[in-house]
Amino acid sequence: RKDVGILAMDIYFPPTCVQQESLEAYDGASKGKYTIGLGQDCMAFCTEVEDVISMSLTVVTSLLEKYNIDPRQIGRLEVGSETVIDKSKSIKTWLMQIFEKCGNSDIEGVDSTNACYGGTAALFNCVNWAESSSWDGRYGLVVCTDSAVYAEGPARPTGGAAAIAMLIGPNAPISFEGKFRGTHMAHVYDFYKPNLASEYPVVDGKLSQTCYLMALDLCYKHYCSKYEKFEGKQFSISDAAYFVFHSPYNKLVQKSFARLYFNDFLNNCSSIDKEAREKLEQFAGLTGDESYQSRELEKTSQQVAKHLYDTKVQPSTLVPKQVGNMYTASLYAAFVSVLHNKHSTLGGQRIVMFSYGSGLSSSMFSFKLQDGQHPFSISNIASVMNVTGKLESRHVLSPEKFVETMKLMEHRYGAKDFVTSKDTSLLTPGTFYLTEVDSMYRRYYAKK
Ligand code: ACO
Repeated sequence: RKDVGILAMDIYFPPTCVQQESLEAYDGASKGKYTIGLGQDCMAFCTEVEDVISMSLTVVTSLLEKYNIDPRQIGRLEVGSETVIDKSKSIKTWLMQIFEKCGNSDIEGVDSTNACYGGTAALFNCVNWAESSSWDGRYGLVVCTDSAVYAEGPARPTGGAAAIAMLIGPNAPISFEGKFRGTHMAHVYDFYKPNLASEYPVVDGKLSQTCYLMALDLCYKHYCSKYEKFEGKQFSISDAAYFVFHSPYNKLVQKSFARLYFNDFLNNCSSIDKEAREKLEQFAGLTGDESYQSRELEKTSQQVAKHLYDTKVQPSTLVPKQVGNMYTASLYAAFVSVLHNKHSTLGGQRIVMFSYGSGLSSSMFSFKLQDGQHPFSISNIASVMNVTGKLESRHVLSPEKFVETMKLMEHRYGAKDFVTSKDTSLLTPGTFYLTEVDSMYRRYYAKK
């Protein structure tokens, strides 16, 4: 089988959002902390009529319709999510409603969970299936869906919500470079959800940043050595057109790319020019630990990498800056942004992806892009996703309304026996929404 990978994609995020600038003022944070400090513009959130199940129903239905895929052609469906609605019943089983209607219950796969990494685990599984002897010739479908919400405090502005669906099969315009994969997994308590009565995580913000950057270094090291082994030459950032990162907030993405640049410097890559080399020389002797603590290194490397950040990373930042951290969907929403911004020039390009899930699990891998045949062409994927249209038709709600919604959702989390307002006035036609949770905790959805 040739070029197994992503044939088609669609993205959904709630049409309701809060502006970071107004949230900053409302929270009493210093001006610029969320917008410049974290680098975020806007944050999407689910109101009481939406959740990870409704968003997944919406995005899967939309993908099947827009690419004209018969639901009977799906042979595997996997969901990546860290939003717990049920400790046993997978989100995938709710999505089966779409397929049962068409008489297709022969669909492998369930949910994968480990913080923001579940989507990547689901994607790897699906691609491996399509490359294996168990493949039955049908499509795989991967869904990444999360509603990221934090308790009041410094982490709150780093929430977000979205669902992304990806159709998997051979001869894909976005194919995996299967040999080049670097992974790092370890046991840490940087961000976790031990309190099953709450939707909010326990988070050690500073530790999570360091864990993320250490994981990035190690994955890059493994990725580079695999590349060297199979290609017989050194890898450096000049070998990929774009670098796409899991994006909790944009500032961390800026730091991440600078870190890759610093790695290339340490590896003596020819991609680092003389001027940058001179500026970074003073940091060459730092131990690993010292290098994560050094503010000077952080600043200097960001500054010397800036021109490459603008070309190789900036095109991936649109949706994450506008929607916020979408957990499992964040990396793929960053990738969606590249497709949206650069769809006409991606043929033949390599895109490197970095996936991070606290706890922790992380991988670096890459895609090779080709224009593809309609409907599975890069330009059609970009037009189906309609990122600009979706962003522009959003409704900006006040911080007061956002906080009120968070409070209501705290009460609703794990609750039974309630009906929602069924207020769909802000939803676009075709969106699924939650209508009721009955006395047996069974959830009911309808479509606008
Ligand atoms: N104007 C401009 N910049 C400002 C201002 C201002 N008024 N005030 C602060 N800043 C800068 C800070 O200097 C800092 O930038 P720097 O890191 O380049 O120095 C940045 O804004 C953030 O400020 P901090 O004081 O470091 O922020 P705080 O500690 O309050 O919270 C954090 C940030 C830790 C990211 C928090 O939001 C959090 O815990 N989020 C959730 C965890 C997370 O997302 N981790 C990432 C990986 S794991 C995952 O994906 C869940």
